[in-house]
Amino acid sequence: MTHKNVAEILKSDSVLQEVELKGWVRTFRSNRFIALNDGSTLNNIQCVIDFENTDETTLKRITTGAAIAIKGTIVESQGKGQSVEVQVSKITILGDCNPDEYPIQPKKHSFEFLRENAHLRVRTNTFSAVMRVRSKLSFAVHKYFQENDFNYVNTPIITGSDAEGAGEMFRVTNFEDNKAPVTEDGKIDYSKDFFGKETNLTVSGQLEAETFAMALGKAYTFGPTFRAENSNTTRHLAEFWMIEPEVAFMDLDGNMDLAEDFIKSVINDVLKNCKDDLAFLDQRLTQEDKSKPQTERSEMSLLEKLRFVVENNFKRVSYTEAIDILRNSKPNKKKKFQYPINEWGADLQSEHERYLVEKHFKCPVILFDYPANIKAFYMRLNDDGQTVRAMDVLFPGIGEIVGGAQREERYDVLLEKMKAMNIDEKELWWYLDLRKYGTAVHSGFGLGFERLVQFTTGMSNIRDVIPFPRTPQNAEF
Ligand code: 4AD
Ligand code: MG
Repeated sequence: MTHKNVAEILKSDSVLQEVELKGWVRTFRSNRFIALNDGSTLNNIQCVIDFENTDETTLKRITTGAAIAIKGTIVESQGKGQSVEVQVSKITILGDCNPDEYPIQPKKHSFEFLRENAHLRVRTNTFSAVMRVRSKLSFAVHKYFQENDFNYVNTPIITGSDAEGAGEMFRVTNFEDNKAPVTEDGKIDYSKDFFGKETNLTVSGQLEAETFAMALGKAYTFGPTFRAENSNTTRHLAEFWMIEPEVAFMDLDGNMDLAEDFIKSVINDVLKNCKDDLAFLDQRLTQEDKSKPQTERSEMSLLEKLRFVVENNFKRVSYTEAIDILRNSKPNKKKKFQYPINEWGADLQSEHERYLVEKHFKCPVILFDYPANIKAFYMRLNDDGQTVRAMDVLFPGIGEIVGGAQREERYDVLLEKMKAMNIDEKELWWYLDLRKYGTAVHSGFGLGFERLVQFTTGMSNIRDVIPFPRTPQNAEF
């Protein structure tokens, strides 16, 4: 007798084979039909038991959520919806599940309710599909970079520098007895801390990835990053995973090509390798859409959206062109922008980004050459002295999915910029060194992994695409 998982049984045509399988009961009907799921696929397998020859106590213990082991024979199914089923010869209850207490009932639960049960929600169809797609996407990310000769670099989580210069960092301290000593002028004395200085959780691995690009040519990170911003939106997390490639001798055009090719490649990968899960999520979204008013329904299904992104060029538009478009546009007959764009130099809000992508160009957009003073200190200043070689990739339903730039490679210009932006040059001496010793044009970007998973699965809230979301006032799990 061979042990098989449900995915294997449903794929094979091994009718009349004896099998052993283990999983969790999804439903049990008529004292006869068990829908068994073991997570290997979205699909359940129907296991038919001979209830007349099964004892009462066992029958009572076959409840939603219980873990069971089954021995039986694969037979062609008489019922609709599945080609094969398992005729059970022996059933063993491995772990009971009290149906009166178990929060995951065989019915539709709201995402809010499931968020409060994040330890159990991956047992539902929607979350198991999302998490399998997430796993396949991470593999596709590594595959893409490894096949293109990038080196995977693990950058520090605890760091003394603020890579974005935005001050949105979680502090890391380990003072003795948890008491922070203070200096004479009443400030916290970090020299007495474990690290002997003020440290934080990283907001980005970019600066360290640059050191690798300037030695190995092509590097990428894929790790957790942290932002202590108090944003309660459907697109922000306090802890998220970022993918950051960095390439020596590559300019901004090369960076845009890389971002576009990379995103298309990983989406293509899951279109091939997650067919069942994506088809399920597609159907789920279509259902959800039907309950919305006509004007709020999406024009494309999830699968159409994914194919559209893979098959069409992203539109590349400069910040200046985008501002002209936004100034001259009316987002809606009745509704104006909440923050109308009046002048060049204004930072774009997500309503503007989404207007450009969803209403104006109707495709993914790469905006580039932003005003220097709304972007980070490390971006390459253009000859106009006003704009920097920055790029943001904007996606329908998501807004910004990628932020990147060609880096300022000139020592003097970088130093001056750091001074002007109040970035402590003493903290970043090693970063400045890269400009002293064999400097060269180089570029890279950061892609928020959860935003990519959101787009690929069609989930509307970022909290539903990461196993245990960290948001303000939320660290239960
Ligand atoms: O635009 P950001 O802040 O860029 C950087 O951190 C650069 N150092 C990246 C680089 O050039 N290597 O962040 C990059 C991306 C964003 O485009 C967004 O997708 C995601 O990270 N992101 C977040 N995702 C979830 N929650 C948050 N709070 C996020 N903040 C940024
Ligand atoms: Mg950004």
